[in-house]
Amino acid sequence: MILSSLLLSSPLLAVDPEMCMGCHRPGSPVAPNLIGMPVDHFVAAMMAYKTGERPDPTMKALAMALNDADIAGLAAYFRALAD
Ligand code: HEC
Repeated sequence: MILSSLLLSSPLLAVDPEMCMGCHRPGSPVAPNLIGMPVDHFVAAMMAYKTGERPDPTMKALAMALNDADIAGLAAYFRALAD
C-alpha cells in the first residue's frame, strides 16, 4: 500500500521534462509556458498536434512519440510544478 502510493505520487515520465523546457521555459520567446497549465488544455493541445488540427511540425513529431498515458503523465507533472 505504501509502495503503491509512492509510485502514484511520482509517475514515471515518458520523456525528460527538461527536454520540453528547452523551448518552454517560463518567459521563453520560443514557446508558451507549460508550468501550471491546466491538464485538459495540455492534453487537448497534444491531441491536436497528433491529429494535425494544430500544424506545428516540431510539436507534432513530439506528440506522435507519446501515448495517452505519457501525455497524461506529463500534463499532471507540469500542472503540479506550479503548486
Ligand atoms: C523545439 C522547441 C520545442 C520543444 C523541445 C517542445 N516544444 Fe512544445 N511547443 C513548441 C512551440 C513552438 C509551440 C507552439 C506551436 C503552435 O503554435 O501551436 C509549442 C506548443 C506546445 C503546447 C501547446 C501550448 C498552448 O498553450 O497552446 C504544449 C502542450 C506543448 N508544446 C508541450 C510540449 C511538451 C510536453 C514537450 C516535451 C515533450 C514540448 N512541448 C517540447 C516548441 C517546442
